[in-house]
Amino acid sequence: MCGIVGYIGEEQAGPILLDGLSKLEYRGYDSAGIAVFDGEKINTHKALGKLRVLYDETEGGNTLKGTCGIGHTRWATHGIPSVRNAHPHMNSDETIAVVHNGIIENYLKLRKKLEGKGYVFNSDTDTEVVAHLLDYYYKGDALKAIATVMQRVEGSYALAILFKDHPSHIYAARKDSPMVIGKGSGENYVASDVPAILRYTRDVFYVENEELVSISKENVRFYNTDLEEVSKECKKVEWDISAAEKGGYEYFMLKEIYDQPKAIKDTMNPRIKDDNIVIEELGMTDEEIRRIDRIYIVACGTAYHTGVAAKYIFEDLARIPVEVDLASEFRYRNPICNAGTMVIVVSQSGETADSLAALRLAKERGLRTLGIVNVVGSSIAREADHVIYTWAGPEIAVASTKAYSTQLIAHYLLAVKFAFVRGMISREEMSGYIREMKELPAQIEMLLAGKEKIQKFANRYIAAKDVFFIGRGLDYAVSLEASLKLKEISYIFSDAYAAGELKHGPISLVEDGTLVVAVLTQDVLVPKMISNMQEVITRGAFVMAITNTEHTEVEKSAQYVLYIPKTCRYFTCSLAIIPLQLFAYYISLGKGLDVDKPRNLAKSVTVE
Ligand code: AGP
Repeated sequence: MCGIVGYIGEEQAGPILLDGLSKLEYRGYDSAGIAVFDGEKINTHKALGKLRVLYDETEGGNTLKGTCGIGHTRWATHGIPSVRNAHPHMNSDETIAVVHNGIIENYLKLRKKLEGKGYVFNSDTDTEVVAHLLDYYYKGDALKAIATVMQRVEGSYALAILFKDHPSHIYAARKDSPMVIGKGSGENYVASDVPAILRYTRDVFYVENEELVSISKENVRFYNTDLEEVSKECKKVEWDISAAEKGGYEYFMLKEIYDQPKAIKDTMNPRIKDDNIVIEELGMTDEEIRRIDRIYIVACGTAYHTGVAAKYIFEDLARIPVEVDLASEFRYRNPICNAGTMVIVVSQSGETADSLAALRLAKERGLRTLGIVNVVGSSIAREADHVIYTWAGPEIAVASTKAYSTQLIAHYLLAVKFAFVRGMISREEMSGYIREMKELPAQIEMLLAGKEKIQKFANRYIAAKDVFFIGRGLDYAVSLEASLKLKEISYIFSDAYAAGELKHGPISLVEDGTLVVAVLTQDVLVPKMISNMQEVITRGAFVMAITNTEHTEVEKSAQYVLYIPKTCRYFTCSLAIIPLQLFAYYISLGKGLDVDKPRNLAKSVTVE
């Protein structure tokens, strides 16, 4: 996700801003920029690519003179990576400069209103709306203008703002995206995260939601949206820089597991409006959706596993035949397709060679292609006819977690929308599914709160030689993902089987003490699953069951039961995977392995 920094004090701001941004590079970005007030005007410089480019072009930040400035590293969400889309963004007469981390969900509506009032936009970003809205409401009182804008925008933001009329202040405002204020002596800082300011001060204030901040070099004042001043306690940062980059988590993977509720909200909320699923970027009319008669979902690894889950949901809900294929297979098997075929390519990085090749094959066949991608402006995102971005933010750990969860959300939104448009479900049913989807982030929070119990159980299996995962239907789909998580970060052999398949061979692998993880979230299949559990237990297996709180009968069969909240049967993968991600994480941690960078693996497999 993006990074913001700000400095006001006695020193030249440019070099300090660039140094602060360099400590936020771990967050992932594709462009950067700074704005510095030189006493007369606000000067900006923006550059595409790594921070080094901005550093070189501004001679280390020294070409922009002044002791008050803001800076930004951009992880593109709305608008491809480019100089024009890089932050800071300004109003037309360049008296206001804004940097932003987050997503303004209603930016299109606000942009249309502002354009109707004669405002001219220079970028494709959601952030630029904030610069023009501030211009529209600013009548001399900066805080008042900011408070008004906060009432108009929906979504998440950490904003740092310069007003030419107020050269001795930086203003900031926060909702959902993190923000800290660093307290110096005769100088003060604002940043998305502690690493950016740790070199200068360990005294910080954590900005709360819906708070505004007025920062001068002498002091820092906090306000609520009614512009009543609020007092805050200054905290001392005890972390070292490495821990700080992971937000205090030991590994990025754990941080990203904990990012999932927010990532799901960021991906889902902008596409649910007035109890309707609105996927503007889909680029398909209802008639075109009705004409789809076959869907291929093509991907690799974790992304492929979301496709296995999506097949069950699309076919059951929208009654469209779905084939899920590994990209490395699809591209060589001469798939059967016709004008009504749609190919969905799922990829976190958007650069996976096999998935890109599969996309190109589909396009050569003249098929409608849709990307579900996390990295904005990546090859798959650019080459697919249309793309639905998962707004998970950059996923640093090799083992995918929040990308998986947000890809599932994209599939849910598509399947429910397609089912409704094709008349397979009523508006009330669609509202019901939307309601259940909206519950998922809070339910995941609950599961994450139970991490100690999972860690304790995982520690019993650090020396395991092999672990099997079994499930039926969507529980088989999530078992595939759980097994991949375990094997790729713990190096323990693991596999996932459709539970009905055990007696056709795999059950010969079960020995005394073999751990078998059984997933039972599909109510109608629970009795069958219980029989499968008994089959392996009689052969010596230890069964850990994942089920929802309505199936306590499972305790009679499994030796260890982990309960997940009840949700719609289509969405259970989003919950069942959480304890299983943590299970894999804690086993890898217990083995003393590099959880974020497992041996032999790369985050993006850009070669065949
Ligand atoms: C999953 O944890 C792995 N990192 C890997 O299987 C990954 O999902 C696969 O390489 C696909 O990557 P993509 O989503 O970037 O295309």
